[in-house]
Amino acid sequence: MAKQNWLHKRIGVIMGGTSREREISLKTGRTILKALQEEGYQAKGIEVSADIVARLVAEPMDVAFIALHGRGGEDGTLQGLLELLRIPYTGSGVLASALAMNKIKAKEIFRYHGIPTPEFISLQGGKVDEPPFPPPWVVKPASEGSTIGIDIVMDRAGLASAVQRARNYDQEVLVERFIHGKELTVAILKGEPLPVIEIVPKKGFYDYQAKYTPGQTEYICPARIKDQQHAEVQRIGLRAYHALGCSGCARADIFLNEQGEIFVIEVNTVPGMTETSLVPKAAAHVGISFNRLVEIILEDASIRIEGGEA
Ligand SMILES: Nc1ncnc2c1ncn2[C@@H]1O[C@H](COP(=O)(O)OP(=O)(O)O)[C@@H](O)[C@H]1O
Ligand SMILES: [Mg+2]
Repeated sequence: MAKQNWLHKRIGVIMGGTSREREISLKTGRTILKALQEEGYQAKGIEVSADIVARLVAEPMDVAFIALHGRGGEDGTLQGLLELLRIPYTGSGVLASALAMNKIKAKEIFRYHGIPTPEFISLQGGKVDEPPFPPPWVVKPASEGSTIGIDIVMDRAGLASAVQRARNYDQEVLVERFIHGKELTVAILKGEPLPVIEIVPKKGFYDYQAKYTPGQTEYICPARIKDQQHAEVQRIGLRAYHALGCSGCARADIFLNEQGEIFVIEVNTVPGMTETSLVPKAAAHVGISFNRLVEIILEDASIRIEGGEA
């Protein structure tokens, strides 16, 4: 589809939502809105909650900038609604969004494509099996973000209660092998990986607090890894992005263990976009300002259903 110029069009920045990441989404959305307005776009913030369908049907808009994280925003449902309304939108389409949101489905696809991801088991329907690999284990709800509901378990004794906690967020839970090593993240923009960022939480675990409290985590860009490893992390991040069928901007979370092995943890299809978020940091490193980054993401907005080109 031909690139659209959205300069004199009505842009709706959709933010808020009903997921547990609502507050982060509002921050992301307001920062994006400010950038668009500074660049002269006719952008309007659309703060939604449970009224999202009625709001989007009623709101006249030529293009949607999706700034919603988590379920109901990042998981394909909003994307499907926008397809049916024939409103072009930023980021990944319906299927890629849904697959990336479900960590079990995403890992199954990584495995199928030979993309390295930590060993795991999925737990459904109330049972708690012991994984066939040694602890520590990372217990996660299949569909959440911002480290919500995630626990690290050191032994068998802690497993059942961690699984129970994760089930408060999603009936589907996965137990993953804990990777000792460097935590990395790579953003993909316009089909190209940006420089890799290394994440160093001051308290050892990159949880909700470490993610969103200034000063709790150190971010190093480019990551302190060998050039050849840096290129390999970028290559694997890009493969994960393509395996899920992502489009627009996305960010792959990756670990590099002490043996130099690389593992993809997950792909985020609506990465955080506050001025201190990871994607803007990586973009800044290659000379892309925050406002330009927002513009690049907007330029890629499209609809994808058959006959649905805007
Ligand atoms: N297999 C793992 N080994 C070590 N740490 C992990 C592992 N999986 C997740 N973590 C830690 O938990 C954090 C959140 O996990 P992630 O799968 O990225 O979920 P979220 O969607 O909440 O970001 C990661 O940023 C990392 O610090
Ligand atoms: Mg993550």
